[in-house]
Amino acid sequence: MKDSVQHEIQKLRDEIERHEHLYYVLDQPVITDAEYDALVRRLQELENAHPELVTPDSPTQRVGGKPREGLQRVEHSTPMLSLDNALNEQELRDFDARVRQFLKGQQFEYVAELKMDGLSMAAHYRDSRFHRAITRGDGRVGEDVTENARTIRSLPLRVKKHPAPGPAFEVRGEVIMPEKSFERLNASRDSEGLSRFANPRNAAAGALRNLDPRVTARRELDFIPYFLLVDGTFPVDSQWESLETLKQLGFKVNPHRRKCTDLDDLLRFIKHWEEKREELPYEIDGIVVKVDSVKQQRELGFTAKAPRWAIAFKYAARQAATTLENIEVQVGRTGALTPVAHLAPVAVGGVTVARATLHNEDEIARLDVQIGDKVLVERSGDVIPKVVRVVEHGVRRHKFQMPKTCPVCGGHIVREEGEAASRCVNTNCPARLHESLRHFAQRSVMNIDGVGDALVEQLLERGLVRSVADLYDLTVEQLTALDRMGEKSASKIIKNIDGSRRQPLWRVLNGLGIPFVGERTAQILADHFGGLDEIASASVEELREAEEVGPKVAESIRQFFCEERNRELVERLRRAELQFTQAKKARKRGRLSGLTFVLTGTLPTLTREEAKAKIEAAGGKVAGSVSKKTTYVVAGEEAGQKLDKANELGVRIVDEAGLFAILETDSNSPTAAE
Ligand code: IVH
Repeated sequence: MKDSVQHEIQKLRDEIERHEHLYYVLDQPVITDAEYDALVRRLQELENAHPELVTPDSPTQRVGGKPREGLQRVEHSTPMLSLDNALNEQELRDFDARVRQFLKGQQFEYVAELKMDGLSMAAHYRDSRFHRAITRGDGRVGEDVTENARTIRSLPLRVKKHPAPGPAFEVRGEVIMPEKSFERLNASRDSEGLSRFANPRNAAAGALRNLDPRVTARRELDFIPYFLLVDGTFPVDSQWESLETLKQLGFKVNPHRRKCTDLDDLLRFIKHWEEKREELPYEIDGIVVKVDSVKQQRELGFTAKAPRWAIAFKYAARQAATTLENIEVQVGRTGALTPVAHLAPVAVGGVTVARATLHNEDEIARLDVQIGDKVLVERSGDVIPKVVRVVEHGVRRHKFQMPKTCPVCGGHIVREEGEAASRCVNTNCPARLHESLRHFAQRSVMNIDGVGDALVEQLLERGLVRSVADLYDLTVEQLTALDRMGEKSASKIIKNIDGSRRQPLWRVLNGLGIPFVGERTAQILADHFGGLDEIASASVEELREAEEVGPKVAESIRQFFCEERNRELVERLRRAELQFTQAKKARKRGRLSGLTFVLTGTLPTLTREEAKAKIEAAGGKVAGSVSKKTTYVVAGEEAGQKLDKANELGVRIVDEAGLFAILETDSNSPTAAE
C-alpha cells in the first residue's frame, strides 16, 4: 500500500515538474491550468495523508516556510563581483582594444547577453537538488534567502540532466520581476493604500529579501541564470557552453544571446535590443559582453573590482526634463483619485510624452513638486511615464490641492488613515461605472455571460444604465437596438441577467464592489451574518466579529453603507429580487466552539488580532461587546468599561495566561460546547 502511494507521489512530482518547466521556463504549457491544479491537488492530498513522505524538493514545498526574524549572512564561495560599464560606443571600443592587446593577436569570440535589471543571486545545488540561495549583498557576504528563492517557479528544485556538473554546483543569475507582475503588484498596493514600488528591480529586491516567503511567492519572480560554477570556478570551456548546460539542467536561460566575432557584430546586437527592449516582458538596462573562452578569461584576469574579460554596455536612461504645466485628477475603477501631470511635450527615448502619472498625494509631497516646476520624466518599459524628481523650481510655481469632491460626480472624497489613495465613495460615479459593471458581471462575481467590455461601453454611451441595478430593467428590445446585436443574442443576455438573480448572497456582496471586500471576505460575511441587511446595519465592532475581518475592512464596509447612493443601490437590487439572505453557516467546530470571548485592554504578548486568530482557529467566537452570552472576558492592561460590565454580569475574566490555558485544554470550559 505504502509502496504504491510512494510510487504515485513520485510519478505526480515528475509530472508536475515537467509541466512547471514547460510553463515557467519554456513558456509552452501543454495542459490547462485546471489540469495542472488537479495534479497538484492530488499530490497535496497524498502528502497530507502521508506527511512522512514529504521531501523539501516536492513541488508542494515551494511555499512551506514561515516568516523569520531576520536574514542570515553567508559568505560567497567566491566573490560576486560587478562589471565595469561602457556608457557609449567609444568606451566599448576601448574595452575591445584592451582585450585585443591582452590576448596579443589570438582569435577570440564574445558572447553578448541581455543585462536584466534585477538583483543577482547565487543558487547552490547539492546532489542535483536545490540547497541554498544567497543574495549578492556586498559581493563577499550575502543574505540567505533559500526559503524565498524556493518560491520562484522557474528555479528548479531538482535539476534535469544526470549526471549533474558535480555533487555540488552553484548557479549565479538575476532575479527579476516581469513587467506584468510589477504592474499587478502596484495596482494591488494602490487598492490597499500602500505606497508603490518605484521600479521592478526594487519590487524584486523587496520580495526576495522579505522575511515571509508567502509574500515572495505572491510576487511572481523569475530567475535567469548567467553563470555555472563548481568550487568557485567555471566547469566548462566557454560561457556559451555554461549557458547551454544550464538550459539542459532545466534553468530559464535567456534565449536572446549571440556569439559575436567583432565589435560591429556587438554593436548590431546592442542596437537591435535598444530598439526592441520595449517588447521584452521584463526590463533590461544594457547588454553584457563576455569573452567566450574560459581559458582566455583566465589570461585576462581581474582588476580589483571587476573581470577584465567582461563589460556592461549601459543604455541611456529614458529620461528627459520638461515643464509641469498642470495637474489633473483622474478617477479609476475603485474610485481612487490619481493626479496626472500635464507636461510641455518632450521626446523621451524617441516617444513624445505629454502626460505622466504622479500616483497620489503622498508622491506629490515626496517629490515636493509644484505646478510650474521643471521636472524629470522617465519612461521605462510599457508603463505610463512618471515624474521622477524636480529639476528646477518654476519662477511662478503653485501648490496642487487634491479636490474635496469627486471631479466627475461631485461625490464625497474619503482618504482613510494610513491609505495612499483618496477615493470617490460613490459607486455610481460615471468614471467608476464602467468598471463596476464589468466587475459585477464577471464570471467569478454574478457570472452574467455576454455582458463584456463592448456591451458595457454601448450601454453607457446610450445612457441605458446608470448603475448596476439598471441591468435588471433592460429589455430585449433595448438590446436589439444596439450595434451588432441580433434578437437571439439579446434574448440570451436578458436571460442571463435574469438568471443572475439566483446567485447567492456572497456573490451579490462581492458585486457591490466595496473596497477590500473580495470573494473570500464576501463569503465570510455572508456566512457570519446570513443577510445583507444585517451586514449593512452592523457596527464596526460587530463586523469585526466575523473571521478575518480587521479594522480596515470593517471601516470600509461601514463607509460604504453610510453613503446614501450606495444604500439606494442596495434598495434597487432588493427590488430586482436578488438574493439578500442565506442560511448562516455553523461555525467551525473546534475545542472552543460555542464559546464567546471578548478582548479588552493590552495583552502582554499577543496583539488583538493574534489573540482573535487563535481563538477562532480553535472554533471560538470573538465578540465586540460584553453580554450575558459572553463566556470569557480576556483582560489585559488598561482594560476599561468592558471589564466593569463583565464584573456586573458575572462573566468570567481571565488574563493572557488564562487564555493560553483555555486554548490548550478543553476540560475547564464553564459551559458545554454545542
Ligand atoms: S555577468 C562579474 N550577465 O549586472 C559579474 N550580469 O553590473 C558578472 N546582470 O551584478 C555578471 N544580466 O546583477 C551578468 N547576463 C548577465 C546579466 C548580469 C544582469 C547584472 C548582475 C551584475 C550586474 C553587473
